[in-house]
Amino acid sequence: MSSTAAAKPPTQDPRGELTRIRASARVRWGSELIDLARSEPLCAWPPDGQLTGEGVPHTRRYPPVAGLDPVREELAGYYGPVLGIPLTRQNVCVTAGAVSGLMLALSTMCEPGDEVLIPSPYFQLNPVQARLAGVVPRFVDTRDHGWRLGPELLARCVGTRTRALLLTNPVNPTTTAYGVREVSAMIAALPPGTAIIADEVYADYVYPDAEFASIATLARQAGVAEWVVLRSASKTIGRPGLRVGAAIGPEPVVAAITGRAAVLTGAASVTSQLAFCAGLRAAAGADYMRPYGHRRSAALATARRVGLAVARSEGTYYLWVGQPGHVGEEGRHAIGTAPTAEALAEQRGVLAWPGSVFGASGWLRLSLTAPADAITEGLIRIAEFARES
Ligand SMILES: Cc1ncc(COP(=O)(O)O)c(C=O)c1O
Repeated sequence: MSSTAAAKPPTQDPRGELTRIRASARVRWGSELIDLARSEPLCAWPPDGQLTGEGVPHTRRYPPVAGLDPVREELAGYYGPVLGIPLTRQNVCVTAGAVSGLMLALSTMCEPGDEVLIPSPYFQLNPVQARLAGVVPRFVDTRDHGWRLGPELLARCVGTRTRALLLTNPVNPTTTAYGVREVSAMIAALPPGTAIIADEVYADYVYPDAEFASIATLARQAGVAEWVVLRSASKTIGRPGLRVGAAIGPEPVVAAITGRAAVLTGAASVTSQLAFCAGLRAAAGADYMRPYGHRRSAALATARRVGLAVARSEGTYYLWVGQPGHVGEEGRHAIGTAPTAEALAEQRGVLAWPGSVFGASGWLRLSLTAPADAITEGLIRIAEFARES
């Protein structure tokens, strides 16, 4: 089945469950725990010492909801060339991270009762946020399509209530990165008037042998009226603690998002806004994938050697691994569900995100931010665990 409307509305962030599992496994395994569940990147800009102080005088006043003018201008100046489109500050709303940008976009661009197409596996908050906005998530399952969203699959899931596509690119958790041809084909497969919300927080994390293209460039070329691109300091400058990001789009979309931010989230912290700009300057020319290239090749080789299925690794700093055949004894998934993730952590001392939180049981998301030998050992233990379950 390529598409399913959601059955039961979860209202919790699934990260809570993983935090509980991690805490319990830490008690049992201590520093021996192999933690492959982290989602913070390895590199961060600017250096810690440069982060303090800047912007403190601005904290005596409420900032403009869309962000300080100089910050919006600097972000427009940075992202214009990156996206290959002319931008002014009116095209940028500074958000309290991409999580808030996503919520603002969903609640602004969709009406309650509308449907949003969400390729599955998805970033775990997508369905929760859609439901909180009164929007119905319609999942487009890419599992049988090499974890890729093609135009035919997308077109099959369009319905009369389809209002928007929520495209994460590169994809957390599968690592799939979509390039110009694929993104253009997706845009062409959507009925005119469909809005596009593009979560591109991992845009900087694409391996040299893969391709990424932003919705911004192609939607504009195709004459799509409503689109928004979300970017984040959490990934682009490796500073998730700043809680800052950017929503970039046509002026009317950004104005509407800003209006919604005024009541839903308020402005992003001004010290974080200024640190975001400082970080972008410091990160200029950075080789984002350098820390991961070696880990990726070693991990891919190990995963294959120990008999795990592994998706083509294209972007992000994750690895998407599964168990061939998908299901264990009695038809249950041997890995990739919350109970099996807990058992893996307790029994083997390996912590990894179960695919079930992303809508794909039977698979695990591993982070390549762990040391290479820990990843290797983790993969060996995962394969043993899957075999013996
Ligand atoms: C796809 C995706 N979108 C958004 C976020 C969160 O971004 P932020 O920290 O800017 O809220 C994450 C975090 O891991 C993510 O993986």
